[in-house]
Amino acid sequence: MKKKAALLSFGKCLGLMSFCVLLTAQGASAQSEHEYVGAKKCSICHKTPKQGEQYPKWQESRHSKAFEVLGTAEAKAAGAKLGVTDPQKDGKCLKCHSTAYGHTTDRVAQAIPVEEGVSCESCHGPGKDYMKMSVMKDRAAAAAAGLKIPDEKTCLGCHNAENPFNKPFNYQERLEKIKHPIPGK
Ligand code: HEC
Ligand code: HEC
Ligand code: HEC
Ligand code: HEC
Repeated sequence: MKKKAALLSFGKCLGLMSFCVLLTAQGASAQSEHEYVGAKKCSICHKTPKQGEQYPKWQESRHSKAFEVLGTAEAKAAGAKLGVTDPQKDGKCLKCHSTAYGHTTDRVAQAIPVEEGVSCESCHGPGKDYMKMSVMKDRAAAAAAGLKIPDEKTCLGCHNAENPFNKPFNYQERLEKIKHPIPGK
């Protein structure tokens, strides 16, 4: 019986090879134990012009395409040089091209699929505990529940020389391309 169970889980591991690799991958932002909810949940309150259109702005940004771009011929060629056969399945690439990657198997399998790319929670932290209106309106409570206000260091967790396509990173210039302020704040 025991042997069968072990074989079964080994089989699972092979079937989900990328997940097994994942267990050993170092996350760009592995830190807290809060859970992810996915960008759609944030969009409920961060979509309209009055709110600051954070969700549509993110959708238009390259960050939302970060998983997709790993499927290109360019990505495959870069991967091949590093012994990566499929960048969309390999932790060596996914750790900076998706959100929950680099945590544990079940965290990735949760509400936030790799397809979402680099989303809100990559920079602001896993949102389950801070996304309630009562918490969001209280800055200290939100921070205590895991909300992060990102800075240059957050960006450099991914925008660094480990990336095969790294380009010089100027924080102010890059921020200008992705900024999404709340009007009047
Ligand atoms: C139920 C509505 C709601 C949801 C869902 C929600 N937010 Fe918010 N959020 C708000 C409101 C309202 C504010 C403005 C708070 C204020 O300034 O009074 C805010 C503010 C923020 C801020 C700015 C905080 C500050 O102190 O400057 C960030 C960052 C943020 N939200 C990120 C997120 C992310 C990421 C998600 C998804 C995980 C999310 N929010 C989900 C309502 C929401
Ligand atoms: C350390 C984080 C990190 C890792 C690891 C990483 N990338 Fe990236 N990747 C980035 C960032 C950041 C950019 C955006 C580059 C820029 O604009 O400076 C990027 C851009 C890209 C692009 C877009 C091309 C372009 O000209 O901007 C491709 C394709 C790509 N990466 C493929 C890969 C592949 C394949 C792997 C794995 C072998 C990988 N990346 C690993 C962070 C990473
Ligand atoms: C979790 C990893 C990660 C983090 C954190 C991150 N980025 Fe990126 N960023 C990427 C990847 C990957 C790409 C390339 C996506 C593509 O080409 O589809 C990218 C692309 C970009 C681009 C588009 C390229 C360009 O210059 O037009 C900008 C702008 C950018 N990032 C700014 C930032 C800023 C500013 C921060 C910090 C506030 C940041 N990024 C944090 C992974 C990350
Ligand atoms: C690549 C990193 C990154 C991603 C992805 C990202 N943000 Fe932000 N966000 C930032 C940075 C940087 C700031 C500005 C921090 C500051 O004020 O210096 C910010 C600020 C905010 C603010 C506060 C604006 C204000 O005026 O106080 C809100 C609200 C917010 N983000 C929501 C979101 C939501 C919702 C998403 C996803 C749809 C998202 N962010 C995706 C990096 C990111």
